[in-house]
Amino acid sequence: MADDRPFTSKLGDGSLALTFDDVLLLPGRSKVEPSAVGTLTQITERVMCTIPIISAAMDTVTEAKMAIAMAQAGGLGVIHKNMPVKIQAEMVQRAKRHESFIIRDVFTIPPDLSAGEAKRIMDERGISGIPVVDKENRLIGILTLRDLRFIDDPYLSVSELMTKDVVTVDDEISMEGARKLLQEHRIEKLPIINGEKRVTGLITVKDLEKRTEHAHATRDEDGHLVIAAAVGPFDKARAKALDRAGADIVFIDCAHAHNMNVVSSFKKIMKEVGCELVIGNIATAEAAEDLIAAGARTLKVGIGAGSICTTRVVAGIGVPQLQAIAAVADVAAENGAFVIADGGIRYSGDIAKALAAGADTVMLGHMLAGTGESPGDEVIIGGRRFKRYRGMGSLGAMKVSADRYFQDSSDSSKLVPEGVEGAVPFRGPVGDVIFQQMGGVKSAMGYVGAADIKEMKSVSRFVRISPHGTAESHPHDILITNEAPNYFTTDSVRHA
Ligand code: XMP
Repeated sequence: MADDRPFTSKLGDGSLALTFDDVLLLPGRSKVEPSAVGTLTQITERVMCTIPIISAAMDTVTEAKMAIAMAQAGGLGVIHKNMPVKIQAEMVQRAKRHESFIIRDVFTIPPDLSAGEAKRIMDERGISGIPVVDKENRLIGILTLRDLRFIDDPYLSVSELMTKDVVTVDDEISMEGARKLLQEHRIEKLPIINGEKRVTGLITVKDLEKRTEHAHATRDEDGHLVIAAAVGPFDKARAKALDRAGADIVFIDCAHAHNMNVVSSFKKIMKEVGCELVIGNIATAEAAEDLIAAGARTLKVGIGAGSICTTRVVAGIGVPQLQAIAAVADVAAENGAFVIADGGIRYSGDIAKALAAGADTVMLGHMLAGTGESPGDEVIIGGRRFKRYRGMGSLGAMKVSADRYFQDSSDSSKLVPEGVEGAVPFRGPVGDVIFQQMGGVKSAMGYVGAADIKEMKSVSRFVRISPHGTAESHPHDILITNEAPNYFTTDSVRHA
C-alpha cells in the first residue's frame, strides 16, 4: 500500500533507535554468584545448547573444524555455503561423524575385497577398523589395522585376514555397558547388530573417549554433535542435500528475509526437509510477525550491524542492533519463537545486552574469525599475527556466491558489494575466546541478579548513556601496556 504521509511524519515520532554502546545494564539486587549461573538456552525447538553462542555462516569463520569446536564447547557452528553443495554436505557429514557414542551410518566392506584396497580405505577415511558384511549386510567379521599389520601381499582377501570372532551388542547397550565390554575384551570397536545379525551401529573407544572430554557439548539424541549449515534464500536443492547429509539445522541465509519471495521459498523448503530451519536476517517487528505466520520458529536478527557490513552506508538500510533485537524478541516471546542476535558484537558485555534485550543466542563473526579453528592460515601484518576476515557481501565473497544479496555472481563486474574484506588479530583457540566471553556474560548475570538466561531477559534493566558515558566505560587516561584476553588495544583504537 502506498504511504502518502507527509515527509516529516515519515521520520516517526522522534524516538531514537539504540544499540549496544548506547546503553548499560543496571546492577540489580542480586543473590546470584557468576559461578553459579546456568547458561542453558534454546536455538530451535529441538536444539538446546549450554552456551548462547553460534559461529557465523561466513567463509572466513565456519567450516567443519569450527562447527565441531563450537558444538564441543556447547554452542553451534553454521557451515557457510560459499562452496559446491557436495563439499558442504561432506563437511556436514564429517562433523556429524566426528564424535558420537553410536555411529549409525556404519561404513562396511565385503569379504572379497583385497587387503590393499581395505588398507587404502582405512587410510583415506582415518578409521582403524571396519565391519565386514555379506551381501545381506549380515556381520561376518571385523577387519582392523592389527589384522593388516604384517601383511605383505596386498591381494589377500579380507575374508582371510579378518577377525571372525566378533564381540557384538544390540541397540539397548548403554554407554557404561559399552565401555565395560571394550575394556574387558581389550577391543576398539563394538558393532551393534539386530536379530538378523545385520549391522545397525558401531561403538568405538575413540568416540567414547571424546564424549567424556566434552561433557557439555551440543548433541543430538544419538550423541552426535549438532551441526548446522547455511543455504541461499532460494536454494531448495542445497537445503535438501544438507538435510540428507545429516544437518540438524539449515539456516536460510539472506540479507533481507522480509522479502516475500524469500518467505514463500522458506515455506517450500520447510515442506521438503526433515531438519529444523532458521530464517534471517530481519530487523523489525513486522518481519518477525510475517515470518512467524509463515511457520518460522527461530528468527535471526541483524541488518547492517556486522563489523564487515556496509549495507547501512551502501543502501542506507538497517536498524541499530539492540533495538532490532528487542523489537523482534517482543514478537517472538508472544509466539514462543526463538531469537538469534546476529552481528555487531564486540565485547562480552554486548552478548549480555543482547540476551537482556530478549535474544536466546548470539551469532559471532568478527570475534571468532581470528581463532585457530576458522578457515585459512594466519597472515603476518606489521609483525603481528592476523587472520583474514571478510563479509559475505564483500566483492571477494560475492564472486563465489551472491544470492544472499539477491545478486548474480556470474559477472563479477556487475556486483555491488555490501561488505568489506580485511583481517583481524589472531586470537588463539576458540575455546579460550569462548571462555572469556562466557566469563563476561556470567559476570553480567551476577550483577543483574539473573540465575539463568530466562531470568536475564526478565529481570535486567537498561539505562541509556551519553557519549561521555561511553567514553568513560572504556579504559581511559592510560597507555595499555599488557593486553587483556577480553579487551584489545585494536578495539580501543576504534574509540579513540
Ligand atoms: P560480526 O559483527 O560478528 O557480524 O562480524 C557477523 C554477521 O554479519 C553479517 N554479514 C554481513 N552483513 N554485509 C553485511 O551487510 C556483509 O558482507 C556481511 N557478511 C556477513 C552476517 O549476518 C554475519 O553473521
